[in-house]
Amino acid sequence: MADEPLILGIETSCDETGVGIVRGHTLLADALASSVDEHARFGGVVPEVASRAHLEAIVPTMDRALRAAGVTLADIDAIAVTSGPGLAGALLVGVAAAKGYALAAEKPVYGVNHLAAHVAVDTLEHGPLPAPAIAMLVSGGHSSLLRVDDLARGVTPLGATIDDAAGEAFDKVARLLGLPFPGGPYIDREARAGDPASIAFPRGLTAAKDLVAHRYDFSFSGLKTAVARWVEGRRRAGEPVPVADVAAAFQEAVCDVLTGKALAACREHGIDTLVIGGGVAANSRLRAMAGQRAQRYGIRVRTPRPGLCTDNGAMVAALGAHLVAAGVRPSRLDLPADSALPLTTVSV
Ligand code: KG4
Ligand code: ZN
Repeated sequence: MADEPLILGIETSCDETGVGIVRGHTLLADALASSVDEHARFGGVVPEVASRAHLEAIVPTMDRALRAAGVTLADIDAIAVTSGPGLAGALLVGVAAAKGYALAAEKPVYGVNHLAAHVAVDTLEHGPLPAPAIAMLVSGGHSSLLRVDDLARGVTPLGATIDDAAGEAFDKVARLLGLPFPGGPYIDREARAGDPASIAFPRGLTAAKDLVAHRYDFSFSGLKTAVARWVEGRRRAGEPVPVADVAAAFQEAVCDVLTGKALAACREHGIDTLVIGGGVAANSRLRAMAGQRAQRYGIRVRTPRPGLCTDNGAMVAALGAHLVAAGVRPSRLDLPADSALPLTTVSV
């Protein structure tokens, strides 16, 4: 609808410089510049390299987004920006840019939580989120289960990883198998040719004794170690490593635990909507398994299309639009870049 506010979102928390523009739940532009290739040879994101890349990309990405949407900065009603969590120097570039644009064009600015934005982006594809919903966030830095009663006001954490994030496990196992960084998409691709039942890898925190204290928590470091040991054993014996089978069996273990715990949270809270967001939500096996298992319980699974699961500016704009529609007040112009922004703080 033309009378809904036009919101611009800026994302710079990790290695993607993103600027998205939305009107209500309609995506108008999603411009992205990635520094991922510059980090690949280090096997992980190098903070200083990421900050510099954001600095170079922010203005051109902004211009590209405005052009793609066919609007000017004067047409924008509010600017949303990732305030945290993320890499401090990287966040600072986006926050400083947002303040500059907001001040120059006299627009309100909303400092928002990157993780809540991973949930909000789904509204661009599937419309308003029913309340309450269970959200599962699975990215390179986070793995959490949340109860979402009102995304504009806050979320209730139910559980989180006690060691590695799901994406981190994908990246580390990929490295072990000699696959490029970031490993998630490569494992996903390799796994298609592999047999998920070929190796029985452990499912962390699913034993009855662990479920008492860690019902909705995750642990992937034991799985990572089990994969490392298995691969080492093969190499020591001078046998070839069946990369596709290892990838498939590892991926199956991760997806089994994630979907099992997320659907348990839905059933135990009497909630029939599960939203999955974050980079790992792009995983084809996770999407398929979650959909199949949810059907049995009459639970609807919502996942944004893969391109919107990984970091982008549209997700920040989507959360900004949701906050504006809910009447949430803008942030102060001295809003912080907070690398450790808690999950429960949706906007600063
Ligand atoms: O949300 P995101 O883009 O950045 C963070 O906020 O961390 O997530 C990046 C993570 C990486 O660990 C990457 O390997 C993983 O998402 N990822 C995937 C897939 N695509 C990206 N993991 C599994 N399967 C995929 N298809
Ligand atoms: Zn992210």
